Amino acid sequence: MDRPNWAPDEVDLTHPSVARVYDYYLGGSHNFESDRQFADRVLGVLPDMAAIAQQNRAFLRRSVRHLCQAGIDQFLDLGSGIPTAGNVHEIVGQLAPRSRVLYVDHDPVAVMHSRELLAGNEQTAVLAADLADPERVLADPILREHLDLSRPVAVLLVSVLHFVGDELRPAEVIRTYLDAMPRGSHLVISHATHEGNDEAADAQAIYNQQRSPNAMRMRTRAEVTELFGDLTLVDPGVVRIPMWRPDSPAGTGPASERYPGHAGVAFT
Ligand SMILES: C[S@@+](CC[C@H](N)C(=O)[O-])C[C@H]1O[C@@H](n2cnc3c(N)ncnc32)[C@H](O)[C@@H]1O
Repeated sequence: MDRPNWAPDEVDLTHPSVARVYDYYLGGSHNFESDRQFADRVLGVLPDMAAIAQQNRAFLRRSVRHLCQAGIDQFLDLGSGIPTAGNVHEIVGQLAPRSRVLYVDHDPVAVMHSRELLAGNEQTAVLAADLADPERVLADPILREHLDLSRPVAVLLVSVLHFVGDELRPAEVIRTYLDAMPRGSHLVISHATHEGNDEAADAQAIYNQQRSPNAMRMRTRAEVTELFGDLTLVDPGVVRIPMWRPDSPAGTGPASERYPGHAGVAFT
């Protein structure tokens, strides 16, 4: 198999990665046969996975738009993924062009492709790091140069915390980030759930088998709400992803009640 220039040498092309599998769900081209085979197993039990991923991206757009309207101009996007259309820097570029965005991911393809795409863009930087090590991320010179932690920041954890198991204490991880930021900082979470959705539970089981890119820990609405700690949730609170401030009433509906993910936005 030829190695494309966006796949650094350390990448094992025969083992699927969360970032590249997600890229495949979204119709992207930064994935390999191992990713497509794994994704196809998930699609076998959750055939709507592509639409589910698109709806998650639509939530990302709506939430970032809300943050721009709330006056936020610094974004820490943790688990930012392989860039695809409608990334955070593109959304804020239209609404608040002076904003700064820092993308953080531990996937080499996501990091390399983000760096290539953003060459020459001084508003946006990329950091290769494990988001579950907040002290290391917060102390990194790239973060310190790019974001001003004396002013409010929005921390985005969009479709990633289900890859952070309970043993990594995700609520404490989040708290460490927010404690390093002043009042008025925001937190955005979207998170996979199996609540009321057996197909999603089957998909989770596939992620928890051998040859999986990452173990998965889906969470209930109550568990996702707990991750926000004592922050103040904006309306409508933690809800199924399509129901978080939909652009039109058509965005909600019976299918949305079973959408396998919850989301919310809160501030300190
Ligand atoms: C499902 S994708 C979501 C991408 C993007 N946030 C979105 O919603 O479109 C999850 C991303 O989180 C990254 N990720 C998972 N665990 C991580 C960790 N511990 N540290 C940094 N990145 C992580 C993966 O590499 C992947 O790119």
